[in-house]
Amino acid sequence: MEGTILMVGAGRHQRRAIERARELGLRVVAVDRNPDAPGLAAADEGEVIDFTDVVAVTDAGRRHGVNGVLTVSADRAVPVVAAVAQDLGLPGIGPATAHLMTHKVAMRALFADRGVPQPAFAALRRMSERHAALEATGLPAVLKPADSGGQRGVFRLESLDDLEAHLHAALAESASGEAIVESFQEGLELNGLAVARDGEVELLTLSDRLRPPGIGFGVGWAHVFPSTIFGDALERAEEAAISAVHALGLRNGIAFPQVIVSEDGEAIVVEVAARIPGGQMADLARHAVGVDLVEVALLQALGQEVPDELAKPQFSQPLAIKFLTASPGPLPTGRVLSVGSLDKVLAFPGVVQAELYIQPGETIRPVRLDGDRRGYVIAVADTNLEALERAEAAAKLADVIVE
Ligand SMILES: Nc1ncnc2c1ncn2[C@@H]1O[C@H](COP(=O)(O)OP(=O)(O)O)[C@@H](O)[C@H]1O
Ligand SMILES: [Mg+2]
Repeated sequence: MEGTILMVGAGRHQRRAIERARELGLRVVAVDRNPDAPGLAAADEGEVIDFTDVVAVTDAGRRHGVNGVLTVSADRAVPVVAAVAQDLGLPGIGPATAHLMTHKVAMRALFADRGVPQPAFAALRRMSERHAALEATGLPAVLKPADSGGQRGVFRLESLDDLEAHLHAALAESASGEAIVESFQEGLELNGLAVARDGEVELLTLSDRLRPPGIGFGVGWAHVFPSTIFGDALERAEEAAISAVHALGLRNGIAFPQVIVSEDGEAIVVEVAARIPGGQMADLARHAVGVDLVEVALLQALGQEVPDELAKPQFSQPLAIKFLTASPGPLPTGRVLSVGSLDKVLAFPGVVQAELYIQPGETIRPVRLDGDRRGYVIAVADTNLEALERAEAAAKLADVIVE
């Protein structure tokens, strides 16, 4: 590949993509407001810029003569990337689609209009709207900021009291000062990875996202590929995911649809993100179907055609990712004294990749947010459930000692 790419955000997830872009021959300019962001040092040029400042990011892109602009994993960067691309005349998903795919109220309104299956919902900006909101959704319900991510400000509601207790926290996570309440959907969550090319949507993987009980109910603490559901229910989930991506108007880009399948096989769409998701989903695509999503995203950011060899599954390898979290996961809760090597984890049968990102002195808390996942183990096997058993067993060998 040739040219210069502007990476918006330069944290841990973006660093991997920056390194991959450079491996593929691109020059990378990265921006992040944190001068210590690991991706800044990994890029050819790193600039300390808060990416919420679209004008400053656009200016950096112009100064460096970039040929494309991209983010991975950071939902808040998606509208910024779309705006910068438009201002610089570069390929992008467009500000309208970027808004629909990052603002949960806008997304739900569109889905309602297009008949995409979804839970009942209500938008709210202030406490006085609480009764009307719960009247629309019933209980239990889920409260979320309209525009945030990574399970920040997401709460399960059992009562009006719960809504009163948490509304401020949810609103505080929203840049537009808006929250959404949805009826709680019981069932198995499936996460999809899809590539849109010229309006054609290909679903590369659909995997089970296993979630812990309790306050971390939205966090993916394991991914299992292929999904354990099958037949009509699987077909309905696939249809829901693909129809959601179409409805949102994504013509060229990577989509991350999240659906929940109820016991009777009905599928509802939770949301669809317009980016390579964090949480090792890019690794899932690589190990499970042999697709490098970063390479696909880079080509699309540069406006180049993505050939079938890069965008279609090359094989199908059962796999599981188990995240290292504290209670109710395998890590202890508390202040970290020491972190041992991962040798035993990596030597476990079937393990193809593992990482631990904890520093001594940090405190590990019970899992509530995506960010409470402090490492992961990826294992392959002949079947999905055997892969999960292996990943779970290997995860228990991680050597973290707390006070
Ligand atoms: N209506 C719902 N019913 C049940 N679970 C939900 C609902 N909405 C969200 N969740 C759970 O919370 C997670 C996070 O919600 P999501 O809307 O994807 O927000 P975020 O932007 O933080 O990812 C989902 O992946 C799902 O596990
Ligand atoms: Mg989500």
